[in-house]
Amino acid sequence: MSAILETDGLVKEFGGLTATDHVNLSIEQGELLSLIGPNGAGKSTLINLITRMLEETEGDIRFEGESIVDLEPHEVVQRGIGKSFQTASIFPDLSVEENANIASLGAEHGSFRFNFLTHRNSYPEVEKRTLSMLDAVGLRDQRDVRAADLPYGDKRRLEIGIALASEPSLLLMDEPTAGMSPEETQATVQLIKDLQEDLDLTILLVEHDMEIVFSISDRIAVLNRGSIIAEGPPAEVQGDPSVQEAYLGGVEL
Ligand SMILES: Nc1ncnc2c1ncn2[C@@H]1O[C@H](COP(=O)(O)OP(=O)(O)OP(=O)(O)O)[C@@H](O)[C@H]1O
Ligand SMILES: [Mg+2]
Repeated sequence: MSAILETDGLVKEFGGLTATDHVNLSIEQGELLSLIGPNGAGKSTLINLITRMLEETEGDIRFEGESIVDLEPHEVVQRGIGKSFQTASIFPDLSVEENANIASLGAEHGSFRFNFLTHRNSYPEVEKRTLSMLDAVGLRDQRDVRAADLPYGDKRRLEIGIALASEPSLLLMDEPTAGMSPEETQATVQLIKDLQEDLDLTILLVEHDMEIVFSISDRIAVLNRGSIIAEGPPAEVQGDPSVQEAYLGGVEL
């Protein structure tokens, strides 16, 4: 295996607070790496540095061997790093298929064409991309449903589908099961595992549910106060005394 993404001495300071403290993280091609840690440990900050929504204070981030710190967020997406956002990227009054079409169209052409929704059959590539995206997240049968009318779990699946429209090789997911019922959580976890296997995706997952994390991850990295304090396969990380310590009073491992 070789690294698809590496951070090298990555630092992010917010005023006097060091949210990311010299992080050297390596994500291998094809793996599902979970990033865990107590509230405020710096998980979302690390994800936002990778997507370039945040500027680093120090250090480097390399994707497929090349530094990406000088790129804009949309250029990072074009390189192949996708992020599943929470419901903000859905157009509630459009159907599932229309939402998927817009995402596919954006990925295909890099910009919108306003007459697209009325002429979609003349865009076979986009249509193909749309259907394969809806299949990947299991929403093909609901394609005519208005997005706002989807159950919460399906909205989150549509979000994941929208992130897949740009055909990323690395997918970043920040708490994809937050707010879900146990059944929706179970289905989403299965979806994430299927995506990794069927689409040969590399996944960086931030997830609070330890049962999920320990069951689906190939590897786990533990952040505490901005630093990685442990890293390895689930069984190794679970028994690590420094991890137990970091979680004292927090989430039970
Ligand atoms: N834009 C910002 N400005 C100032 N401080 C910030 C900003 N974003 C995050 N922080 C601080 O940086 C630290 C890390 O926050 P971050 O959101 O990355 O943690 P997290 O691990 O994602 O936490 P959670 O599990 O609660 O989502 C926290 O102390 C937070 O208050
Ligand atoms: Mg967070």
